Amino acid sequence: ATADIGLTGLAVMGSNLARNMARHGHTVAVHNRTTSKMTDFLDAHGSDGDFVGSESLSDFVASIKQPRAIIIMVKAGEATDAVIDELTGLLDDGDILVDAGNAHFADTVRRQQALEEHGIHFVGMGVSGGEEGALNGPSIMVGGSDHAYERLGPIVEDIAAQVDGTPCAAHVGPDGAGHFVKMVHNGIEYADMQLIAEAYDVLRSVAGQEPAELAEVFRRWNEGDLESFLIEIAADVLAHVDADTGRPFVDVVADSAEQKGTGRWTVQVALDLGVPVTGIAEAVFARSVSGHDAQREAAQKVFEEKLDAPEVGEDFVEDVRTALFAAKVVAYAQGFDMIVEGSNEHDWGIHAGEMATIWRGGCIIRAKFLDRIREAFDDEPDLTTLMTQEYFATALREGERGLRRVVTTATAAGVPVPGFAGALSYFDALRRDRLPAALIQGLRDNFGAHTYERVDRDGTFHTQWATDDRKEVEA
Ligand code: 6PG
Repeated sequence: ATADIGLTGLAVMGSNLARNMARHGHTVAVHNRTTSKMTDFLDAHGSDGDFVGSESLSDFVASIKQPRAIIIMVKAGEATDAVIDELTGLLDDGDILVDAGNAHFADTVRRQQALEEHGIHFVGMGVSGGEEGALNGPSIMVGGSDHAYERLGPIVEDIAAQVDGTPCAAHVGPDGAGHFVKMVHNGIEYADMQLIAEAYDVLRSVAGQEPAELAEVFRRWNEGDLESFLIEIAADVLAHVDADTGRPFVDVVADSAEQKGTGRWTVQVALDLGVPVTGIAEAVFARSVSGHDAQREAAQKVFEEKLDAPEVGEDFVEDVRTALFAAKVVAYAQGFDMIVEGSNEHDWGIHAGEMATIWRGGCIIRAKFLDRIREAFDDEPDLTTLMTQEYFATALREGERGLRRVVTTATAAGVPVPGFAGALSYFDALRRDRLPAALIQGLRDNFGAHTYERVDRDGTFHTQWATDDRKEVEA
């Protein structure tokens, strides 16, 4: 056996990861269920480094040094289970199987437990950065055992993106921790994209700016606090002109956003954990609304009158910029809350600051301000919320005016801004002294004797609403 690591599943992501490892001097065993894909891969990319191609799974397994490390890069779900089943019988005690797809962390936990009985270390590994990242340096979130990371760590840290000499790869925690963190990453990606899309919509629909001008605005924003991959490619997409029609590309694309499901998972899991990730939830629902063609068509016929956009001055662009940054801070704070909560719930010991560190490069949400998030958790590992840490608190104070103005202006103009409005409501809810949740508690007690607590003394109480004297009793 000569290969340092094996990879089965040579679609674009898999073949790019294999090439990346080979380019870094690792000998990579490659396999694909349809053999021609494997031979085509070797024909096209064999010169990238040392590969050992095998037609059968048993030859593939035999070609890898022990303890073996094998990356599975096939479709999430049944296809993954099928490959795992086939491989299980061929592996030895201490071998490591890595699922590098976007699997649900609960599936990863289930698979790990099942394989533990066979002495196999199963690893859920989140890989972000798309096809480009896989080839040139992704961000890699590794779950699973310490034994598995000892074997995998040197290779994944080698092929990951590097920022200031630090690899954007880490052992996030045991079992499903890697896929959990990748899932939250994608949820934050949804929230971030929704806010960027709303900023574009408001500036176009209220301030009347054209896509080409807005590309310039985004390009400028990318030189400040907002500097990030998503802002950079937003400028790129807005500047793009459709070759067929000569119209802005963004005007010829159907306005119904799709989703493969990781954002939805994030919200489902957040509901179970009880973490209010309102930014991610609004983003998932906004995509869903965009795809409800029948309802949109029906509403457009009945409520056809357009609202007049209020007049705005030059300073509106700056208001949108500060609003975007403030709303982003809220969305990221919620995402990090979820990581902390998930880690506590599953006893994973995830280091929140380390997640910010490995997201600084390679992944879709890579951004300058992740450095600030890393610093915040370095200073205060048990930070209650990112929103109150000095740098982010300043961003929120500076963005608050803009955020209110964007939400009120957009609302007056009939432009939907669920991301901005949700961020503002979350911010206001946290900072307010009293919330109307007190009335909700009163209603619950009134119709269902669900009890309440008081502000002035300990205990649980119920008011006998049906009696004349409405006596309060201790429950
Ligand atoms: C990444 C991306 C990647 C993929 C998304 C797209 O981190 O590289 O998040 O995983 O592009 O899953 O997700 P949707 O199809 O759900 O938008």
